[in-house]
Amino acid sequence: MSTTEKATAPTVPDYPQTLGHPRPLWMLFMTEFWERFAFYGMRWALALYIVAEFFHGDPAGQGFASRTYGAYLALVYAAAVFGGYVADRIIGYQRSILVGAVVMAAGLFMIMLPDERIFLLGLSTVIVGNGLFKPNISSMVGRLYSVGDARRDRGFTLFYMGINAGALVSPLVTGWLASHFTDMPMQQNYKAVFLASGVGMLVSLVWFWIGRRQLGPVGRPAPEQAGRLRVVYVFLGCVLAIPLVFFMLGGGFSELVARALLDMGAIKPTVIDGAINYEKTLPAATVRAWVLGVLFVGLSALLLVEGFREGKVQRDRVFAMLIIFVFNVLFWMFYEQAGSSFNFLAQNIVDREMFGGWVFPVGWFQSVAPLSLVLLAPFVSLAWGWLDKRRMEPSIPRKFGLGLIGNALAFVVLMYALSELVDSRHLIPFWPLVMVYVLQTLGELCLSPIGLSMVTKLAPVRLVGFAMGGWFLSTGIGNNLSGIFAGHVSGETGMTVASALSGFTFSFWLLAGAGVLLFVIAPLINRLMHGVK
Ligand code: PHE
Repeated sequence: MSTTEKATAPTVPDYPQTLGHPRPLWMLFMTEFWERFAFYGMRWALALYIVAEFFHGDPAGQGFASRTYGAYLALVYAAAVFGGYVADRIIGYQRSILVGAVVMAAGLFMIMLPDERIFLLGLSTVIVGNGLFKPNISSMVGRLYSVGDARRDRGFTLFYMGINAGALVSPLVTGWLASHFTDMPMQQNYKAVFLASGVGMLVSLVWFWIGRRQLGPVGRPAPEQAGRLRVVYVFLGCVLAIPLVFFMLGGGFSELVARALLDMGAIKPTVIDGAINYEKTLPAATVRAWVLGVLFVGLSALLLVEGFREGKVQRDRVFAMLIIFVFNVLFWMFYEQAGSSFNFLAQNIVDREMFGGWVFPVGWFQSVAPLSLVLLAPFVSLAWGWLDKRRMEPSIPRKFGLGLIGNALAFVVLMYALSELVDSRHLIPFWPLVMVYVLQTLGELCLSPIGLSMVTKLAPVRLVGFAMGGWFLSTGIGNNLSGIFAGHVSGETGMTVASALSGFTFSFWLLAGAGVLLFVIAPLINRLMHGVK
């Protein structure tokens, strides 16, 4: 370690060890488990609830519901950038997590109220709260390990398992609640879903409130950040940010952009039934792609400025991190077909009839990924440890390459099934889609926890939270592109065997190409990392 690094690297207290890791890891694990319980417990119900409650079940509401849902996910990731910055520069990590948890819980209780405006305000509140919570709890994990500690990637893999345990359990619980607490068999009780999520978030808050003493000084505000007044400012900032997010969430923002561009004559209007259709004129997803892109450029610039300020080593490390972020976008763009095109595939092209005529529900495929993640995570964690002992643990870019290749292999299975296994009813068997989810998960485990870990190693110390926000933002950009890509696979008339085959073949080549490229340029990226492994 150079002297400047020694000066800036935060010291790690002598934590008691539990199961081979610093004890606070398990506290962070449980805090994040409950937060993800809240997040994923209600996510599945959002679009369904919008149609049921605000459109009285009219399918015409599906467009609005999907757009709102897409905007919600994109904004949740984008908010992480601001949340990370608040922790770095304004109130420190622990207090950001606490404020985030309070705000998020408030939002979850707000969405229970049957008024469209309050509902959207509630979602905006969840977004702001999550922005303060999610990146910062991840950064805390990194602070438990000293600079050269080889257990860091494994710690993050375990933490990631907590994330997915929450994601796995909660839809089962809330799904059951929704169908149990209702007198009308066709109508789900979404209030029960939101209530359970809100309670989950309170558990997360209390867990961290009590458990944070274990952390000692780590994540406490720096001397110049101390004082309660700053927390008040952050709360005020949240209150101001919520209407802004609300404006973007409700589609008001993309319509405003469309109007401005129409006025300038930069785009042509699409007129339907005598009125301009703004969504067809300029899709909200396109506006979002630009907003997220601009945010990403701004973030990269700020990180680079800090990198340059700290000298050559830090500058190179920021470059390496940003290069990896770009590959991360690709990974999630295709991974997230799970939320879109794979469901159309499951619904229309996969033979889901089981023994005795029972039909496997489309929604259940969503559990395959988190379930395989929880089952596979300990093995991947062990594998890194085993390889490390033999001095064979792959470098960060190579792990990323493996992640992309795992994702690519999932598409090979689909290419094979869609070209060789189509039966006379134009259906493919059940098992290829299950394998797709398992292979994607294997890829995810090589890439996603390693990405979190990497940020805590490569980011300038003063901006770790902000950089973590950038990591989530890159995932969000991938998610947003995934919807645009899925739209192309389905086209105007819906997915067919032919359109699926061509879309998924394209996905394979892009992922495999990127994965191999990373393998080849890994030594170069490693050089930019200056000894970080
Ligand atoms: N399951 C992951 C999580 O909720 C998905 C994800 C990956 C989200 C990367 C953001 C960034 O954390």
